[in-house]
Amino acid sequence: MLIRIGSNGFWQPRALPTRSLRETARLFNQINSQTIIEIGSGIHGRLAGDNILTWARRTRANRIIAVDLDETRIREVKEATSQYPNVEAIIAEGVRYLADFSSTIDLLYLVPIPRARCLALGERKPTEMPLLPRGTSSTAGR
Ligand SMILES: C[S@@+](CC[C@H](N)C(=O)[O-])C[C@H]1O[C@@H](n2cnc3c(N)ncnc32)[C@H](O)[C@@H]1O
Repeated sequence: MLIRIGSNGFWQPRALPTRSLRETARLFNQINSQTIIEIGSGIHGRLAGDNILTWARRTRANRIIAVDLDETRIREVKEATSQYPNVEAIIAEGVRYLADFSSTIDLLYLVPIPRARCLALGERKPTEMPLLPRGTSSTAGR
């Protein structure tokens, strides 16, 4: 979903992402998927999505991996999902984590990572980075 820019030059209020997240969860279940990875996780409120709660409550995934650079965010995810044993919350840099992940990913939810951050990760250009390993699917944000 694109966020519209008004005549005043500022982003206009946008709809909550709840509907698209629920639809993603429904499709995930429909094709009997197993593994979700969310890069840039966290519990940032309904306007941001609180995606991890949708994955935990509405999918039948047997593995939901929440990755975030920020220890505080990961602590919040752990607290919010403590009743879901299928959720793993991991402090890591997202691109590096994906590069080392060798199992199948059925749903990859990527919060945009600033280009400057990608460049800081190494000598390769962002477009050459292994963001989407073979066989990976992704949703395009909200
Ligand atoms: C807009 S918030 C994500 C909102 C969240 N997914 C939700 O549903 O509420 C962006 C998050 O991405 C994390 N982040 C930014 N760059 C990252 C990176 N390279 N690897 C992992 N996490 C990253 C930030 O620490 C922050 O918690």
